[in-house]
This record gives sequence, structure tokens and C-alpha cells, in this order.
Amino acid sequence: MSEKKRKTDKAHLVVDGKTVELAVLESSMGERALELGRLKAETGCFAFDPAMANTAVCRSSITYVNGEKGILLLRGYPIEDLAERCSFVEVAYLLIHGGLPTMEQSMRFSRLLNIHSMLHEDMRSFFGNYPEGAHPMAVLSAMVVSLSSFYPELRLENTQEETDITATRLLSKLRTIAAFSYKKSVGEPYVYPSHKYSYCENFLNMMFSSPVSMYKADAYDVALMNKLLVLHADHEQNASTTVVRMVESTGANLYACISAGICALWGNLHGGANQAVIEMLEKIHRDGLTADQVIHKAKDKNSRFRLMGFGHRIYKSYDPRAKLAKKMCMAVLKKKKIQDPLVEIAMRLEERALNDPYFQDRSLYPNVDFYTGLIYRAMGFPKEMFTVLFALGRLPGWIAHWQEMRKDPEQRIMRPRQIYTGPQKTAYIPIEERR
Ligand code: SDX
Repeated sequence: MSEKKRKTDKAHLVVDGKTVELAVLESSMGERALELGRLKAETGCFAFDPAMANTAVCRSSITYVNGEKGILLLRGYPIEDLAERCSFVEVAYLLIHGGLPTMEQSMRFSRLLNIHSMLHEDMRSFFGNYPEGAHPMAVLSAMVVSLSSFYPELRLENTQEETDITATRLLSKLRTIAAFSYKKSVGEPYVYPSHKYSYCENFLNMMFSSPVSMYKADAYDVALMNKLLVLHADHEQNASTTVVRMVESTGANLYACISAGICALWGNLHGGANQAVIEMLEKIHRDGLTADQVIHKAKDKNSRFRLMGFGHRIYKSYDPRAKLAKKMCMAVLKKKKIQDPLVEIAMRLEERALNDPYFQDRSLYPNVDFYTGLIYRAMGFPKEMFTVLFALGRLPGWIAHWQEMRKDPEQRIMRPRQIYTGPQKTAYIPIEERR
């Protein structure tokens, strides 16, 4: 039997003839990391790791992602189980509190969500000052940081009760802000939250109800909304979560941290990809391009075109969320009897890409954003709202990481270093002598 690879708990680095011993740390899933906290002091060298692709910046017990095997666990629970069996509110509770709620805890959490669902009336007027066509992500980020002007910041020695109130206040108000920003964008009157609805039912009602149509969110859409928000609830140290953690490390308040996370999520390489996928598919449809033509463009290094919704820094296999989203997409189109040409285009692109050596060699698969936009579209959301929906789902994850960061004794203000490539010390020349 081949000797099981013995895991060492020490590594040795030789710099300028000096041997430095590094501790080898191990995660609860067996992954290992070299502890480099004393690297500069011991060797005089920095570690160079652009985009932090090889760097663990913290210890975290919230989410586990295995990119090779396509595994995603939230507090140990497989995403497939949570999406199938839990409401978004339960998963939000799980992420923030570390365990699934009892019936009593769930009812209390839901009660807090209802209590905090209204926006301060003075904030309502903010929406009116945005120009027609203002992107809802801009509104979302600005309104969230403005909450700090209306609601108290958490004291450092805050109680769990105060954290719960602040967390549910944000979870509930972000939903209201999202719906209000949509209503503003379509020039319709705001629909207020109601205590008689559940979290997702409230959101759909605030989005699609209007004085002239007695909209009633049907159970299918409410269940689908729950699943979609659960799919997005957390994903360990992604870019926007790292931003939330970095802003928290400076001592800024929760609203500022989340507002910064929303801005980071907006980028089309991150959460903005779900809108970019639809825009890509619409253009392919409009231009009448074949899948072969599109795949050719995606492989062409001279073109800036990328197959949006494909590829991932961690997943080198099919994103488990994309698998679930694809199934949900097929089901919603069948249920609502929708023939969407963009879906056929997406499926042809996926089939071609997965059989193309360029994509295979680079382990490029559909990610969470490839099919989710098609589901939102079938539910009647405009594409400008898609990344807002991603943020709504990701909020409990951001709050859980913010909370973990605040309590982590190993953490302090994040302050990376650099490899300086600028000029050596330069003498000043008065302007009249410059040539
Ligand atoms: C999310 O981190 C997270 O967990 C994020 C997220 C979360 O839940 O928080 O999962 C959500 O952001 C999902 C990703 C959404 N973004 C997109 O769909 C945008 C399209 N994808 C790519 O831009 C890209 O795949 C990234 C940004 C997702 C990942 O980029 P990496 O890890 O930096 O990969 P890379 O750019 O170094 O690419 C490696 C190679 C390159 O080719 P070579 O230089 O080796 O020849 O793969 C190529 C890239 O050109 N490549 C693509 C491609 N993605 C990578 N080629 C064509 N189309 C693509 N989509």
C-alpha cells in the first residue's frame, strides 16, 4: 500500500543561507497553509501574491468551498440541502448565529425582520433625487451607508441582542430599499412592507404590486425566490466579502462595510456578471451569432470578449449553484410556459464550451451567474435589478463575516505591502529650471 502522504506540521525556507522554520496550519477539511506572519521579520522578504490567489487572510468557520470537487457547505450544510429544504430567513439565521434556528428562534428572528422592515420616511425622499435610469446598485450602496445616519452604530462591546437587531434591521431594510429603488426606476408608487407576509413574499409584493393591480405573489415564485437567495447567501472569501472584512478591520460601522461590499459586488467580473450574461445573450440573439462564432471570440486573445457566467477563481468544476440554477431555470420556464430564445442560446453555448479544449484545459465551467439571470427574467425582474438580488442574497454572509472579523483576536487593520518599482530618491528641480 503506498505510504499515506505524511503531513508535516513544519516547513523550512532557506533565504540567503538562513533556514527559517514555518508552521504548517491545517483546515478542518485537511487543506494546509504556511504561516507567514513572521516572514518579513525572519527573512527580510515579503510574500508576493497578486490578487491574494494563494493567500488565506483569516480563519473562518462560516463557509467551505472545494473548487476541485464542486462542494459548497454553509456552516457545514451542503448548499443542495439548504436550497431544497430551508427558507432564506433560516439560512440567514444559520450564517449569522452558526446553527439552524429552533422554531422559537425562527419566529423571533422573523418578528425582528418585520419590526425593522420600514425605512425612515425621511429616507424615502432620497429616492426622488436620483435621475431616471440611475442603476439600482448605486442607489442600494448609497442608501445603505445612509442608514448609519438614522440608526445607531453598534458599540464595540455590543450584546448579541444588539447584533441581532442591527443584523435584522439591515436584512429587512435592504429588501425594502431594493424594492423602492425598482419602483423609483419605473416611476411607480412605493409599496410598503407588510407584517402579514413572509420575507420573500413581502419582497415580491413590494416589487410587483401596484395601486392598479391586485398582485398576489404565488407560492411557486415565493419558493423560487427563497431558493435563489439561499444560492447566493455566502461564498467564503470572495472579493466583496473581503472588502466587507477589510472595511471592518478599519473600525468602520456595519452599514459602511456593507455599502462597500455592494460596490465591490457590482463589478461585472463578480456579482455584476448576472446582468452581463443577459446583455451578452441579448447581443448574441440580436446579432444572430452562432455558438461557434461566440466561442471563437471568447478564445481569441485579441478580443476583450469573455463568456460571461463562465469560469471561476475557485471552481475548477461545475459550480454546484449553477447546477441547481440550471434545473430551476428549466423548471420555471416550463411552469410559466415561457419560450425564451436566450435560454436556448445559453444551453448551446454551455454545450459547445464544455466540449472545447480551450475551456476544458482552463477548467472553465458555468458559475452561479450563468443561469440565474434567466430565472430572474422569467420572474419579471428587469436585468438592472439582478445584481441587487445577488446582494440581497449575499447580505447574511457579509454580516456573518463582519461579525467573525470583529471577534477574531488574530485580526487587525488589513494593510498589505508591495514590491515598489518606482524611482529612487529624486532631487527637486524648481519649475523654472525644468526642461
Ligand atoms: C462570482 O469568488 C467568488 O466566490 C465569486 C462568486 C461569489 O459567489 O461570490 O462565486 C460570484 O463572482 C462568479 C464569477 C462571475 N464572473 C463572471 O462570470 C465573469 C466571467 N469570468 C471571468 O472573467 C473569470 O473566469 C473570473 C473573473 C470569474 C475568474 O478569473 P480568474 O480566476 O482571474 O481567471 P483568469 O482571468 O486568470 O483566467 C484564466 C484563463 C485565462 O486564459 P489564459 O491567460 O490562461 O490563456 O482562463 C481564461 C482567461 O482568459 N478565462 C476565460 C474566461 N474566464 C477565464 N476565457 C473566456 N471566457 C471566460 N469567462
